[in-house]
Amino acid sequence: MLDIKITRTTTPKTKPADETKLGFGKISSDHMFLMDYSVEQGWHDPRIVPYAPFQLDPACVVFHYAQELFEGMKAYRTAEGQIQLFRPECNAQRMQDSSERLCIPTIPVEDYVQAVKALVEVDKDWVPYSYGASLYIRPFVIATDVGMGVHASHTYTFCIIAFPSGAYYAEGINPVRIYVEDEYIRAAPGLTGYTKCGGNYAASIKAGEVAAQKGFAQVLWLDGVERKYVEEVGAMNIFFKIDGKVYTAACTGTVLPGVTRRSCIELLRDWGYEVIEGKLAIADIMEASRNGKLEEVFGTGTAAVISPVKELCWKNESAFIGGGVIGPVTQKLYDVMTGIQWGKVADTKGWIVPVCEG
Ligand code: COI
Repeated sequence: MLDIKITRTTTPKTKPADETKLGFGKISSDHMFLMDYSVEQGWHDPRIVPYAPFQLDPACVVFHYAQELFEGMKAYRTAEGQIQLFRPECNAQRMQDSSERLCIPTIPVEDYVQAVKALVEVDKDWVPYSYGASLYIRPFVIATDVGMGVHASHTYTFCIIAFPSGAYYAEGINPVRIYVEDEYIRAAPGLTGYTKCGGNYAASIKAGEVAAQKGFAQVLWLDGVERKYVEEVGAMNIFFKIDGKVYTAACTGTVLPGVTRRSCIELLRDWGYEVIEGKLAIADIMEASRNGKLEEVFGTGTAAVISPVKELCWKNESAFIGGGVIGPVTQKLYDVMTGIQWGKVADTKGWIVPVCEG
């Protein structure tokens, strides 16, 4: 159990009045959580302080060798005024897995969850009121040793910041266009694809920019060895409904094990769908499209929630999905997932963790 010291701001910011114009991750809340690590003291000095810039030595390891990781979560306000989290222990566990790979000392699951809850409670007035808007929470750890040697840092800072946010994509729940990337890769066996580290995203930016110039929302990554099998999309996992069955890439080291991904798989299986986690070739997806069997494509993610895809473009050929309209399974997943998160649908799975009344 952390003994968190809380220092409240004396100059609270004005909260955004129009929740339809929040954007995503643009306006920070009033406070942030901090905790430091040293070899001698372990994780120590947990505290919530007014949100403020860091002062860091320019030679910190994180700036040069990118030893860092992050998580993404949301706090939701129900119509009854309860503020709640969705499966926070899954994010805590995933952060431990990322930490192991990046030689960053792990934070116990219960401490992580306690820290997130504490920040959300202090900043509870920042949790939006509208359905579909939430407080996006960004926990991260950075390596703070000073020096040019490439080795694991001996000191770290764990920080949690939060942003009242709306939809991740400008399209909202409207279907997006995705470009299938066949030049650059995001991950390969043995690398860090399954972790949530900034380096994965840095390596993905070039392809994302090129795709954006062509009018696509994001890229779909193929496997890094054969460039044949679908893996994930920039900020989300991806699912394909083909001839009644649902396919998604297996989490075998190169794909991020998304919390929304695993929740959707559980729901789909409960509803009687066959969900296949495995290798699915992009060529087979395009073939299914030509044969009229590619029924639905959707992405899943904390930020993206459930995001329908209306077009996949691979090697100058486009597969158009569902006539540009969200499909019934995608819609049902969206309704049930957001319903559970915002407290409109009963949480029969025990996924919701209450934080406080708001
Ligand atoms: C999330 O869905 O929370 C993410 O971290 C994706 C992100 C890169 C916006």
